[in-house]
Amino acid sequence: MLEVRDLKVSYGGVPAVLAVDLDVPEGKIVALVGGNGNGKSTTLRAIAGLNATDAGEIRLGGASINEVPAHERVNLGLSLVPEGRRLFARLSVLRNLQLGAYSRQDPDEIAASLEQVFTWFPILRERRTQLAGTMSGGEQQMLAIGRGLMARPKLLMLDEPSWGIAPRFVTKVLETIQEINARGVSILLVEQNLHKALAIADHGYVIQSGRIVLEGSGSELLASDDVRKAYLGL
Ligand SMILES: Nc1ncnc2c1ncn2[C@@H]1O[C@H](COP(=O)(O)OP(=O)(O)OP(=O)(O)O)[C@@H](O)[C@H]1O
Ligand SMILES: [Mg+2]
Repeated sequence: MLEVRDLKVSYGGVPAVLAVDLDVPEGKIVALVGGNGNGKSTTLRAIAGLNATDAGEIRLGGASINEVPAHERVNLGLSLVPEGRRLFARLSVLRNLQLGAYSRQDPDEIAASLEQVFTWFPILRERRTQLAGTMSGGEQQMLAIGRGLMARPKLLMLDEPSWGIAPRFVTKVLETIQEINARGVSILLVEQNLHKALAIADHGYVIQSGRIVLEGSGSELLASDDVRKAYLGL
């Protein structure tokens, strides 16, 4: 589904991502884990087309998308749920969800996606007229994921969905990510919460100082001393 090869990204000449190679096979959940400032968000934003790349190749379904602008990557099936959620705080829950479908045309299909999102997150149906900014942190995260799903992605990228939310919401969010995946959406999940992310991932990558330093199955990485070292070394 997604192949990233030798990705390099910098900000004003300062390198942030130096060597990222990763694959998200169709139908899988892949985790990218690492501590603060190691290049996780930069990697996701580059895949989404929001950060220019210095080098490397990003392929979706076998074809290079390096030259494809961000909004067209959405049409190709890439959807990013950004770090910090980036909701429209003064718009309603429903309006935020509708904006997630901005690139789509068919009203019946959009309505079907909305119904699916409401099935996964019933609180969003109950609160559809509430202003997004007045929802709790966990509810806002559900809304951000719901908005990402309204683009009907083939690959959903989630940047720290457990950030700033209560433990019971984290569990709910991770379970729902698994349900979304079971419905055929491939997942690239960025987390600092190593255990939570690797517990649901088929495969994981550890990023440190802009480089992938380790990879393996979720259970392999959880058992690895190197993972602990990579984390302690931060
Ligand atoms: N817009 C920007 N301008 C300049 N430097 C940036 C910008 N965004 C990120 N960086 C730098 O790039 C590096 C990687 O940042 P990035 O946000 O990708 O890390 P991260 O792994 O997502 O961290 P966190 O866990 O804190 O979200 C950091 O050194 C950061 O300061
Ligand atoms: Mg980040």
